[in-house]
Amino acid sequence: MTERTSIILDVDTGTDDALAIAFATRHPAIDLIAVTTVAGNIDVEKATANTLAVLDWLGAGEIPVHRGASRPLVRPHRDATYFHDEHGLGGARLPASERELGADRGPAAIIRLARQRPGEIVLVNTGPLTNLAIALNVEPRLIEWLRAVVLMGGAFHVPGNVTPTAEFNIYVDPEAAEQVFSAPFPRLTAIGLDVTERVAITRADWDAVNSDADLPPSASLLREVGKFAFTRLDRDRFALHDPLAVAVAIDPSLVRNEDATVVVDTSEAEVGRTRVVGPGSVQVAVEVDADRAVETYRRTVGLPLPKPA
Ligand code: RIB
Ligand code: CA
Repeated sequence: MTERTSIILDVDTGTDDALAIAFATRHPAIDLIAVTTVAGNIDVEKATANTLAVLDWLGAGEIPVHRGASRPLVRPHRDATYFHDEHGLGGARLPASERELGADRGPAAIIRLARQRPGEIVLVNTGPLTNLAIALNVEPRLIEWLRAVVLMGGAFHVPGNVTPTAEFNIYVDPEAAEQVFSAPFPRLTAIGLDVTERVAITRADWDAVNSDADLPPSASLLREVGKFAFTRLDRDRFALHDPLAVAVAIDPSLVRNEDATVVVDTSEAEVGRTRVVGPGSVQVAVEVDADRAVETYRRTVGLPLPKPA
């Protein structure tokens, strides 16, 4: 029996967050113990409703969801509805969930669970780092209690995707990111655009998922959340930013890292830029086995193999 890793997912669901949730609920080496939500791609109310709906869609309605921060630490919230659509799920209209939220709010849930199970839980952040920064502020012992943190964020040696230098999750809350990257976590891995832009599903995947009626919900979810990107925006690829962070949490061999000290620009000129300024304890992913990562995602969620080009 594969030893399972206990994971808390902190999300701003969002289309690729939804795919990351699907991956986490299906992978045999993952025990998804809770999901916390944060304002990012969409406002936190919609991100929370989307997360509940996605978990119900996946038949994982037993996993508790805890609503988190409604805005960044300092700045006004800026969303990404231009890519994830006005509801945040890329055109998907999943049945709304009827179930209750977890009793405590996102940062409190992270603290409670890490305190109850010191050294066991991996926190995977796939949105702005507001919840983690708040939790760290309230309970600095999180640094010892969390087994590891794997975050999707940053553009370290490549251009950004919101400005020429900033990646979205960091751009939305650079002050939170600054606090997280400067905290002395023994195991903090940053999965930035340096690697996530190389891990994508393609139009062939989109065509395959639309021509196979007999798919598990974890695969047909792509047919729902991919509509906006593949039809309205007419994209030919869909980067698996957030699913890659989850995959690395249970298989670090997918990426090669550099040991780094990371600084986050909060000045207006290059707000949200993440720079490696020297050696340090942050593991910044710089290379990825992209084919193996995409194949792991396809196999785990049950995607049909795309027809060869
Ligand atoms: O830059 C990509 C990241 O920003 C992903 O987490 C995506 O969901 C958005 O939040
Ligand atoms: Ca996200």
